[in-house]
Amino acid sequence: MTSLLVGTPADPTPGDDAPEALRRGAAGVLLSNWTGASTVPSRGLYPHQWSWDSAFIAIGLRHLSVRRAQRELETLLHAQWADGRVPHIVFNPAVPHDAYFPSPDFWRSSSAGAPAGAPGGTETSGIVQPPVHALAAWLVHLADPEDSRRRGFLPRVYGRLAAWHDYLTGPRDLGGGGLAAMVHPWEPGMDNSPCWDGPLRRVEPAASGSYRRADLDHGQPSERPTDLDYGRYVRLATDYRDSGYADAGTAHAFAVEDPCVNALLIVSEHALARIAAETGADPAPHRERAARLTGALVARLWSPEAGMFLCRDLVGEELVPERSVAGLIPLIVPGLPGEVVDALLATATGASFRLGEVPMVPSYDFSGADFDPSRYWRGPAWFNTNWLLERGLRQYGRTVAADRLRSAMLAAAGASGFAEYVDPFTAEARGTRDFGWTAALALDLLVAAHEGGASAPATGDAAADGAVTGEPVGADA
Ligand code: SER
Repeated sequence: MTSLLVGTPADPTPGDDAPEALRRGAAGVLLSNWTGASTVPSRGLYPHQWSWDSAFIAIGLRHLSVRRAQRELETLLHAQWADGRVPHIVFNPAVPHDAYFPSPDFWRSSSAGAPAGAPGGTETSGIVQPPVHALAAWLVHLADPEDSRRRGFLPRVYGRLAAWHDYLTGPRDLGGGGLAAMVHPWEPGMDNSPCWDGPLRRVEPAASGSYRRADLDHGQPSERPTDLDYGRYVRLATDYRDSGYADAGTAHAFAVEDPCVNALLIVSEHALARIAAETGADPAPHRERAARLTGALVARLWSPEAGMFLCRDLVGEELVPERSVAGLIPLIVPGLPGEVVDALLATATGASFRLGEVPMVPSYDFSGADFDPSRYWRGPAWFNTNWLLERGLRQYGRTVAADRLRSAMLAAAGASGFAEYVDPFTAEARGTRDFGWTAALALDLLVAAHEGGASAPATGDAAADGAVTGEPVGADA
């Protein structure tokens, strides 16, 4: 299926069948990764439902089937815990336990008990992932507002999405400064980012013989996290589980505020305001919370010296100097101070990330001591982060740069067989193939390219939340 796509040109010309081949390839991945209620990121490496994957997948799936995209999000939200957390994995009971580690018998969510309160009848992990869901729900609604209204989609998901954001801004404000904190490197989704090397040094790894890495059945060891990283991941997850998944009143060996997570929370909070207004609820509290979060993001994570946002280590009580793509993602946040936007764009195009020079922006600083072009989140370029940057560039009126990035992503998605990630210099495939969000986001970009802008139709009010609508709020440079 995907072999048809090798060599897809960056700038398809009229009459060229490459966009149609790419569309068919992306659709094929989404159809074959569909399980009946949700979409697996990958049949081999990730054979269950993942939280932020599902949100990105829904954003692409809406172009194939609005109803499947609705179902994708609703399946995930039905696994929400009583305290509002949306788990990072919802396990498929039909998949054997040894297909993925850590499996349900590790997390024991069905016996987690109060106060976290996992749902009965569904096995889940106990940690979270970045909150892309309200943004995804709003974009799914926009794909067919009439069908969405007829089926009551937004009224069904609004309460759960609001409770999810209440959890992140309540119990997860571990730093007390108004941002959501993450307590495991799997939570911000960029598992082995060099940003976590320092904070993880305090964590005693679990004994290597106490678990088996199923990921290495499907992935090249040189493209996956190391055994030392895994030992620490297992230790942190075990301790969190044994605390009853308690956020307050327990010592966290790892607790960080991440700019990508919080930027996504802000954009999703803007989307929640749209959803509230659409369902007859009051949007004002969501707009106010988005404004408070934006203030806290700049106050706590902006580094004028670095020219980008940095992660904050809450245990060591300092900003982490490592420069990861997470620190550029706040470009999706509307209403940033002009000097912050200018500095972010200068950093994105500078020596660390080389936007416009290389096919796609790397996950970590090209000039960083720990840069590795192949190893997961330590350098490879990912499609979700580049999709977010594309929206951010467009929001702040950098249309030329956004168009160029979009073309490069479409070329890389097809030529790589919808790879999980790619070498940031050559765009050669790395990680697994037929990866769900790569296919979904390629489809979304393809629709946008066809329509000549961002794929979500603008609904006015764009200056308040351009990243939600995709409508530009600034001038091109
Ligand atoms: N990304 C993790 C993994 O590789 C878990 O979310 O399994």
